[in-house]
Amino acid sequence: MEGEPSTIHWHGMPVPADQDGNPMDEVAAGADRMYTFELPEGSAGSYWYHPHPHGRTAEQVYRGLAGAFVVKAKVDPVPAAYGDTVLMFTDLRLAADGSLPGNTMKDLMNGRVGDHVLVNGQKNPRLAVATGEMRRLRLYNATNARFLRLAFANAAMTVIGSEGGLLEAPLAADDILLSPAERVELVVSFDRAGAATLTTLDYDRGWMGPGRPADAGLTLLTVDVSETRADTMPPLPERLNPIASLGQPTVTRRLVLTETMAMSASGMEMGFLINGKAFDMGRIDIVARAGETELWEIVNQADMDHPFHLHGTQFQVVERERDGQVARSPYLAWKDTINVARGETVRLITRQERPGARMYHCHILEHEQLGMMGIVDVRA
Ligand code: C2O
Ligand code: CU
Ligand code: CU
Repeated sequence: MEGEPSTIHWHGMPVPADQDGNPMDEVAAGADRMYTFELPEGSAGSYWYHPHPHGRTAEQVYRGLAGAFVVKAKVDPVPAAYGDTVLMFTDLRLAADGSLPGNTMKDLMNGRVGDHVLVNGQKNPRLAVATGEMRRLRLYNATNARFLRLAFANAAMTVIGSEGGLLEAPLAADDILLSPAERVELVVSFDRAGAATLTTLDYDRGWMGPGRPADAGLTLLTVDVSETRADTMPPLPERLNPIASLGQPTVTRRLVLTETMAMSASGMEMGFLINGKAFDMGRIDIVARAGETELWEIVNQADMDHPFHLHGTQFQVVERERDGQVARSPYLAWKDTINVARGETVRLITRQERPGARMYHCHILEHEQLGMMGIVDVRA
């Protein structure tokens, strides 16, 4: 990575636009840059940071430049006895000589999926708990392009939070789909002695061409639950954190995601577009007003799922539509990334509080690089 420009983007965090590591705000190789920001009250959540330089994000991230950034609340309704553990998933592809091979045509189409899913940099690490223990776990999908549908064998999962903080009430779950860049906060109860494993299930996200990776049956983490009984754990409260409604939207925007295929000198080339356009750093796609609530309709007319991400704020998903069937979101949650399945429309409401240029894009980083990104300029 010698000699490359970079930036640091604070994924999901409400930081000023000129501190958010935008692609047009590169730090030259060898230069330094101090990012400063103050987080507003009420922004506790599971964030992360990664580079965002123009045309180089995908490679810098799969080579390892990313980290978790947890913002803790001063007053936290989740019992401290559960601990607070980050599980950050990445996936690594290693060549026979131990090097990291560059992206292939297949990677550019589908996004780069590696061969080894790692948790905090380790393959199938172990965690030891006593019977009856409850643990707070923050799961991060920090892979470039791997969809993770996850389940715990021999332990019970309760969802307590999304990217931007706690839900209003806990919600039991059998399995969880985490698309690239999504996060979830869980409380997991280990009530039976033995091994409790976190494993992957099948999920078809629309794979182009041959070589679809085997999604199911990977063991990502093994929890050894000892015969010893844990001290009685304080119960999880029934109410967690109130989530304010963003109010009635005054503007509606429609963003249509498509894929194109074109012949070039080097063969077939894929393009990933929003409203028919590939990203242009010098173009403003949307002008918005700070403090105004907007409804964004993300329409996926492509053959693959695309996890949609917006910078600078957290949004609320209102509903999803597929084949004319509309499903309202069953609960409120603060999100900054949402999977839009192929053929699906997701409606979300959002409000940017601060002025400046913000990016929105597919978080399959190879798709972002090949054009599926735009700029919303928020004006005071
Ligand atoms: Cu995770 Cu535009 O970023
Ligand atoms: Cu981001
Ligand atoms: Cu995509």
